[in-house]
Amino acid sequence: MNAPDAPQASAAASHVMNTYGRLPFALSHGRGCRVWDSDGKEYLDALGGIAVNTLGHAHPKLVPALQEQIGRLIHCSNYYQMPLQEALAAKLCELSGLANVFFCNSGLEANEAALKLARKFGHDKGIVKPEVIVYEKAFHGRSIATLSATGNAKVQAGFGPLVEGFVRVPLNDIAAIEEVANTRPNVTAVFLEVIQGEGGVNPATVEYLQAVRRLCDENDWLLMLDEVQCGIGRTGKWFAHQWADIRPDVMPLAKGLGSGVPVGAVVCGPRAATIFGPGNHGTTFGGNPLAMRAGVETLRIMEEDGLLENAAIVGDVLKAALQRELGALPGVREIRGQGLMIGIELEPPCGVLLGRAAEAGLLISVTADRVIRLVPPLILSAAEAEQIVAILAPLVREFLSENRSA
Ligand SMILES: Cc1ncc(COP(=O)(O)O)c(C=O)c1O
Repeated sequence: MNAPDAPQASAAASHVMNTYGRLPFALSHGRGCRVWDSDGKEYLDALGGIAVNTLGHAHPKLVPALQEQIGRLIHCSNYYQMPLQEALAAKLCELSGLANVFFCNSGLEANEAALKLARKFGHDKGIVKPEVIVYEKAFHGRSIATLSATGNAKVQAGFGPLVEGFVRVPLNDIAAIEEVANTRPNVTAVFLEVIQGEGGVNPATVEYLQAVRRLCDENDWLLMLDEVQCGIGRTGKWFAHQWADIRPDVMPLAKGLGSGVPVGAVVCGPRAATIFGPGNHGTTFGGNPLAMRAGVETLRIMEEDGLLENAAIVGDVLKAALQRELGALPGVREIRGQGLMIGIELEPPCGVLLGRAAEAGLLISVTADRVIRLVPPLILSAAEAEQIVAILAPLVREFLSENRSA
């Protein structure tokens, strides 16, 4: 396929706001887990648009469905009945065991809605200054409220005053959250990622998740699980919390839900399903027919093609291969994660590996300074998993040996 006539961007002449450190190439097109840049160079995609391209690129079942939808109706308004919203909401409720859904456009929007639910839940029972328990190293987005909930000083720097009403605790520390339960009567919700993504691929343990669920029940708090990055099949179950056999009251989703088409959702259980009434929340684009069709088709294709099983099986292959090639290396602290959400934590900061991997034909990310993050499409094959490791492992070895001798 020829690259479309994209204007050649030069950093000096760019009119795009400078908010990202971008690599010096533009992706032109993709197929499956491969993408090509405008010079024709091929890359293996172990990033999936940061856990977004669930079905990879140009999926042969998704593309015609979206083309058909674009030709029919892209957007109307939430003034009208939306059969596709009903269809996607029903499917999300079936898969999660929850009750109803509000649709929006992104992860931070889903999280904003969750935070509004937590506050109104408090107001409805007479708590006028509700508080939400949030986490060290958490990431929930870059709006003022969600960056205030985020546990990363770099994300917050320059944007004070932060939104008040958050109490922060360390992940997987049951005593710390019990202490909050005993001392803060205004808490109305606990808000956490089941596996912290941007914070370095840090999983909440099953034991911790079950303890938090119990505390929420005992204290009449909402359990709000941000599954924006770890949800939609990535860990080998539809939602990562299902490994702990618990149910949240509120579950924000986004990223992988539309397989690349922007869509966010807040899925609510019975305790949260009627907190919002008419006029309490809204969005122009949220739930539009194109986004809804993308969600419906993504989930349908995932089921048809067995992508949960694939994520679990190929995730194990990927982790085992990483362990085999890198696990014993001095300078590799830990290889962790579940399914196709894997982090490799190194001792030195390793942001430089992003560009080196791209040069070698592999797309990855580095997060929390030291963690190589792999969140490929869920269609990844075992052979492609081995190929990721075949490209990545020598780069990591070389990088660590440079850092040892430096
Ligand atoms: C767990 C989590 N929540 C929320 C967000 C924010 O999502 P968005 O970038 O779509 O606003 C992200 C993005 O990385 C995320 O990983």
